Amino acid sequence: YAGRFTTDQGLRARVVARTTVPAKVRFEWSTQLNFANSHSSDASGYVKRASVAKGWLANLPANSLVYWRAVATTGAGGQASSPVHTLRTPPAAGQKITLAFGSCTDFNVPNPSFERAAARGADFFVHLGDFGYAAFGTRSAVSRTAGSYQDRWTRMLASSDVSSMTKKGFWIGCQDDQDYGRGDAWSGDHAKFTISAWDQLSGNLDQRYFAVRYGDAHLFFTDSCRFSDKRDSDTGDSMLGAKQKAWLKNAMLNSKAPVLVLFMPRQLSHVENNFKNEYDELVSFFKGRVRDGHAVLICSGNSHLQYMGQHPSAYTQEEAYEFCSSGTDRAGQRSIPTNAIKNREDGINAFGLVEIDRANNTLNLKSIGSDTGNVILEKTHSI
Ligand SMILES: [Fe+2]
Repeated sequence: YAGRFTTDQGLRARVVARTTVPAKVRFEWSTQLNFANSHSSDASGYVKRASVAKGWLANLPANSLVYWRAVATTGAGGQASSPVHTLRTPPAAGQKITLAFGSCTDFNVPNPSFERAAARGADFFVHLGDFGYAAFGTRSAVSRTAGSYQDRWTRMLASSDVSSMTKKGFWIGCQDDQDYGRGDAWSGDHAKFTISAWDQLSGNLDQRYFAVRYGDAHLFFTDSCRFSDKRDSDTGDSMLGAKQKAWLKNAMLNSKAPVLVLFMPRQLSHVENNFKNEYDELVSFFKGRVRDGHAVLICSGNSHLQYMGQHPSAYTQEEAYEFCSSGTDRAGQRSIPTNAIKNREDGINAFGLVEIDRANNTLNLKSIGSDTGNVILEKTHSI
């Protein structure tokens, strides 16, 4: 699958492949489906034990649809090629962006959300964690190891549901508590092995917080567990941690993009309930960005519900929007909404779809039922 883009050496996309047997891997891309005039580069990062190879699709043209594939060659000379994937490189200003996100996905059930997101034309999918619940229901010693976690994550990524999405767009995964091996994981209580286990399979360049510019949107990815203080009533504590928060504020402050999208595994209400001072600090910071002419959208997860709200919640012209989409596909969740609360639906299989359309000045948010494809919640903001 393709991970994040970087622009430090021209436009590049990180790509990750896992082979069933050790092999040398190269990545090819072309703007033509038949790979005429294709570009090829050898993988440069190998994780031997996991048979993972990482490389770059380098010197990509912006605002293009590119085709890419991984080609693996074994020591004995056997060769295999992955299916052809497509990837939309960062679009030009004014072009519509469609992104999908979700979180809290069971392993042992079908995950139609990803297929539906691909069918809706998502350019990329952000998974905000609890990706297959590798920590859950595993009792033996061997199941609390890097290998067993990686096996779970690999099976998720290789499933037909998820790969229908990763064949069409890039994929960025963030870790929530279960991916860190503990319920409510925080900096002082998480399974340390999960950090390198995650990095070995991830296309995030081993970073827990980073930004990607994608057309009119600037995407900010953050971590809600790794640097977090314990979740208790100490209002002076921090969920983001000082370093990550300083980075985030600086990065959002320096962005020239019209739409700032912050991906945060935990809901803002969670920050408000556990880290009140930090919540107030963030909301006042977001207000400042809105006052400066940006639209601010926070995409969150973790809480097994769909929710669309704004911060501050009282009426103001300077509000940041929050869209929480959690529980893409979980055993025991509902498929049909109750419509009991206007802007919230609890315990339902759904994912988030965000359409950013600067040409028409609209930011459209849709929560889409994974089982039915129906729109469960919808809001359109002008931007
Ligand atoms: Fe969860």
